[in-house]
Amino acid sequence: MPGGLTLHGAEIDVAPGALDTLGARIAARLPAHRVALIADAQVAALYGERARASLAAAGGDPLLLTFPAGEKHKSRSTWGSLTDQLVEAGFGRDTVVVALGGGVTGDLAGFVAATYMRGVPLVQVPSTLLAMIDASIGGKTGVDTPSGKNLVGAFHHPALVIADPQLLATLPQKEVRSGLAEAIKHGVIADAAYFGWIAANLRQILHGNAPDDATSLQLVRRSIEIKVDVVRKDERERGLRKVLNFGHTIGHAIEQVTAYGIAHGEAVAIGMVAEGILAERLRLAQRGLADSIATVCDAAGLPVRLPDGVSPAEVLTATRTDKKSSGGRVAYALPRALGEMAGSESGYGIPAPDADVIRALEHL
Ligand SMILES: NC(=O)c1ccc[n+]([C@@H]2O[C@H](COP(=O)([O-])OP(=O)(O)OC[C@H]3O[C@@H](n4cnc5c(N)ncnc54)[C@H](O)[C@@H]3O)[C@@H](O)[C@H]2O)c1
Ligand SMILES: [Zn+2]
Repeated sequence: MPGGLTLHGAEIDVAPGALDTLGARIAARLPAHRVALIADAQVAALYGERARASLAAAGGDPLLLTFPAGEKHKSRSTWGSLTDQLVEAGFGRDTVVVALGGGVTGDLAGFVAATYMRGVPLVQVPSTLLAMIDASIGGKTGVDTPSGKNLVGAFHHPALVIADPQLLATLPQKEVRSGLAEAIKHGVIADAAYFGWIAANLRQILHGNAPDDATSLQLVRRSIEIKVDVVRKDERERGLRKVLNFGHTIGHAIEQVTAYGIAHGEAVAIGMVAEGILAERLRLAQRGLADSIATVCDAAGLPVRLPDGVSPAEVLTATRTDKKSSGGRVAYALPRALGEMAGSESGYGIPAPDADVIRALEHL
């Protein structure tokens, strides 16, 4: 992309139509590599052949490896099967793994790249909004275990991230909405104008998706810029990265008490509204902030209330087992205003009394 976004040596390109120039882009960055293209079966059916043709046109002989779509296949067993197939096909240290798909594929194929032959280069080609603006950026890879999500993994930064917003044209609405919750979060934590832009363009974002849609491009580009900026700055200012956790302390707790019966983005939307109310109660934010967040989430078709049958008390209890809490102490990332987070002096982690958390959840 013009101006060139980079993070930990990863070049991040946001370009409509990039899928068809995948081969040339990868060959320019990683010459003389053998390509292992990994995609779930659904994404492979939609885009596998175009990706393969582009890689072949650049002189490669790509091997397409697929696995069944869905979180339950982000597992050690799929990782084992993918790595076995690479060994059997004679892939060596000159392998480059190309992850084409959503966050499940990015995390799983990323973990294959992190571990195969003690680590080979990775190219992320995210195909969901969530993967474009969140999962493909930051270098986290891994798989789930029966005891929990992302329990086994490694940091492995991609050499290249190629986000083609045209791929969003086929993404189901529910998946678009789920990713949109993270984009709304980016607006709240870093850019009030972007928050306003999302609110003004919701119809286009949710129903547009024309192949040359400038709105998708702007959405993906601005969100990536914000996430890159936060992750990059955290190398110096310890703690800033926590702001990306806005909406997630309560969001993860809701995912947990519903046994993941709710989409991640939906839980984050409820979490952002509840944590916005919490910020108001703690007098960190002005009244009205939580309402602004709720209005946009609601208009985006995201839930803003606790699911039926879920009580504030059980959500509070679940926040204590969040992996980002330490010793049972829960530190929230809370906004001061749209585009600005509170707590810069204390590493952006703000403890909250139980009573205020309960009140905030009751207020939803
Ligand atoms: N590594 C990170 O930093 C990070 C951050 C956030 C989330 N994650 C992980 O991401 C995963 C969730 O990612 P996700 O929401 O992208 O889920 P996903 O990868 O399961 O994709 C959702 C569904 O959409 C389908 N799909 C993907 N692209 C499509 C397209 N362009 N058109 C039509 N269908 C398409 C997939 O086949 C799948 O069925 C979770 O496992 C989560 O832990 C990782
Ligand atoms: Zn999230």
